[in-house]
Amino acid sequence: MIRACVIGWPIAHSRSPLIHGYWLNQHGIEGRYERRPVAPQDLAQFLRTLAEHGFAGCNVTLPHKETACRLVAPADATTERLGAVNTVYLREGKTWGTNTDGEGFINSLRQSVPGIRLENARAVVLGAGGASLAVVNAIIEQGAAEVAVVNRTLEKAEQLRRRFGARVRPVAWDDAASQLGECRLLVNTTSLGMKGHDPLNLDLAKLDERAVVTDIVYTPLRTALLEEAARRGHVVVEGLGMLLHQAVRGFSLWFGVMPKVTPELHDLVARDIDPDFRR
Ligand SMILES: NC(=O)c1ccc[n+]([C@@H]2O[C@H](COP(=O)([O-])OP(=O)(O)OC[C@H]3O[C@@H](n4cnc5c(N)ncnc54)[C@H](OP(=O)(O)O)[C@@H]3O)[C@@H](O)[C@H]2O)c1
Repeated sequence: MIRACVIGWPIAHSRSPLIHGYWLNQHGIEGRYERRPVAPQDLAQFLRTLAEHGFAGCNVTLPHKETACRLVAPADATTERLGAVNTVYLREGKTWGTNTDGEGFINSLRQSVPGIRLENARAVVLGAGGASLAVVNAIIEQGAAEVAVVNRTLEKAEQLRRRFGARVRPVAWDDAASQLGECRLLVNTTSLGMKGHDPLNLDLAKLDERAVVTDIVYTPLRTALLEEAARRGHVVVEGLGMLLHQAVRGFSLWFGVMPKVTPELHDLVARDIDPDFRR
């Protein structure tokens, strides 16, 4: 029996067990994927004793992503650059950490908009928090010419420029609407628009008519930003796809099978988020 888990504090609302449970069942693998509440003061000890607990690895979520990165061996240059891990696995007696949020974002985008090209394009990213880090890095790795990072706390956008270089342009929150001309991709990575949070108020009047609009918030499944963008005729991509795609590599590292993000899996998780979901 191979076991993996997701650790966080709190962890009750994680949908990862539903995703990995679906794949375990689909592939007939004798395995288990569980939720594990791990308090910040217990993180180092938990990661040190993963094997003793019988785990092949774990997902790492808030508030542990950055601390965990300092406690494990970064598995690749992207993870080192991000300084945050969401996936931990054991190999040859060592505990490795990697970050699959960026590929989750890009693979979701590509699944929804197969022809999208970000080479030499200009993107606008709202937010400069933990999730923004992975999204901005992924967009730059796709060859974008410029990523305007719009954030309430400008200093955090400036930190992203110091980390990723001159292709990041920090922009003050009040200037968001003026950034939307000549924009191939608009991404919301703030928590605005999420259920229980303040709404995201952004005037899309100046948005490049070819722009794809995506929101990484997935509760609700279709945010007000996406509703408005769709009403204006933009192609929109919901945040749930990123959540599903970021899970793929972890599953393959622990259970040895590369799983697929199928419409059936999407609908299973969508119904868990919104019981009234209909395709
Ligand atoms: N789809 C997925 O797989 C996925 C993955 C990760 C995260 N997410 C979602 O992404 C969202 C952000 O997560 P995170 O981990 O990046 O959070 P975080 O590190 O706390 O960052 C929050 C971001 O939202 C901004 N913000 C919050 N309240 C604001 C307000 N009233 N006005 C303007 N900006 C505001 C913050 O700006 P300041 O810097 O000024 O505080 C910051 O840029 C969450 O809703 C999370 O559920 C989705």
